Amino acid sequence: MEDSNHPETIVEGIPREPALSPDKCLIDGGIDPCAIVIVGASGDLTARKLMPALYNLYLSGGLPEPFLIVGCSRTKMSSEAFRDRMEKAVSAGGPGDRSRWSEFGAALHYRAIEYDDPSSFKELSRSLEALDKTRKIGGNRIFYLAIPPTLYETTSRMLGSAGLSAEGREGGSWSRIVVEKPFGHDLETAIALDRTLHESFQEHQIYRIDHYLAKETVQSILMLRFANAIFEPIWNRRYIDYVRITAAEAIGVENRAGYYEEAGVLRDMFQNHMMQLLSLTAMEPPSLFEADRVRDEKVKLYRSLRPLPVDHLGEYLVLGQYSRGEVGGKEVPGYREESGVNPASLTPTFATMKVFVDNWRWQGVPFFMTSGKRLAQKLTEITIQFKEVPHSMFRQTLGEHITANRLVLGIYPDEKMTLTFQTKNPGARVCLRSVTMDFLYHQDYQGPVLDAYEKVLLDCMLGDHMLFWRQDGVEVCWSFLTPILWGCETCGNRSEMLHFYEAGSWGPEAKRELGLP
Ligand code: BG6
Repeated sequence: MEDSNHPETIVEGIPREPALSPDKCLIDGGIDPCAIVIVGASGDLTARKLMPALYNLYLSGGLPEPFLIVGCSRTKMSSEAFRDRMEKAVSAGGPGDRSRWSEFGAALHYRAIEYDDPSSFKELSRSLEALDKTRKIGGNRIFYLAIPPTLYETTSRMLGSAGLSAEGREGGSWSRIVVEKPFGHDLETAIALDRTLHESFQEHQIYRIDHYLAKETVQSILMLRFANAIFEPIWNRRYIDYVRITAAEAIGVENRAGYYEEAGVLRDMFQNHMMQLLSLTAMEPPSLFEADRVRDEKVKLYRSLRPLPVDHLGEYLVLGQYSRGEVGGKEVPGYREESGVNPASLTPTFATMKVFVDNWRWQGVPFFMTSGKRLAQKLTEITIQFKEVPHSMFRQTLGEHITANRLVLGIYPDEKMTLTFQTKNPGARVCLRSVTMDFLYHQDYQGPVLDAYEKVLLDCMLGDHMLFWRQDGVEVCWSFLTPILWGCETCGNRSEMLHFYEAGSWGPEAKRELGLP
């Protein structure tokens, strides 16, 4: 038996590898000095996510030395005002170590720009060069677009024409651009966006973020599947009955009606996050844990998705929209009553989709993907439901059916894995009971934990594309989803496809018609 207090002891004669020390898990390699340029620095994303992430990285040794952070946006303000604003934003995130803010703050600068004005970007280029010289950065730059997607194309062109996308030769200075979803509105616009990005940047310079990929437990799916011998042999149609992927949210549309009315749940959650969860669960093992090999396997998986029949969509897809209800003990308005939403809106805020993967491993196994807003609680998890035992030797006493095994990969609120199995109830009678074995992801770990934005920023500085979308993946997923969207949005009975559900429920009951247990 393992002695959990002495994990490095020899177990039954087999010397064990000492565990990797936590600090070795933080950074895999040296980080080049660089300037992180946040385009859209006066916005919400910078204050809520990016700046706290950069400061935390600084505290845990995850920023290079030297580094530089340059905020730019239309708002006119001085670098001092920007520093103050960012300090407040970081403090608003709750208590934390602020003792090193002033040394971190010294690396923060601000430049006002106009997104469509070439001279503004030329000016930015000159000031980056000057700052670069003073801080000896070596010309390496990351341009993080924290702006509305409608500005991506203009900004990318402006960066290109100001010479800011240029890289040094043969391992010289580098330039990277980071964009966040949505990558287009459908296949055509996704291709157009990519074409524009490529006018100025090459593929290796483009980092397309999906923050779900940077969640620790999401990354861990591949480790669970491919670093253990016991799961993979049963990870297929012979043993698995169905797979359920859920990303339920308690929040509503909040102040994003303008975007959400156009996007709806399918573009907002399915085209990206749900597809990533699906591919990590179902893909084949790559030969090496390396960005392109992993992404090749994902693309293969997306290509194996059976297209949904557009004229029988109702057999595979249930759409819903929340109406007034109660969430967490509070009355909340229906979607159509939210500010900025059309009172007759047909935008879906909920979807369950049943998909099949046409390959040897998964033939016939349904994957149910569900995501929605204003549901009973925030819950993100993947359930692997195994089949019942093929023959019950207990049928005389316990009947034919024995509860089948279930593995749940919890992503939120608990980062954990839970395996449910049957055991005997103590006592004289033959009785089975279902028990669960839990593994809490952070159990026995004291090292630093990176949140999703910290992880993507770090990987971008390291030049590691593993957690970022590659354009072929984006396009294959749009090819799958675009006909479905077209089918939902142009069909005559569009309103009949939409099932209303009370806020605070688990979505429309119609989802059961898909066979969702
Ligand atoms: C975003 C969507 O990509 O993901 C939001 O645009 C959604 O609508 C969010 O709320 C969910 O992310 P998380 O990490 O809170 O599950």
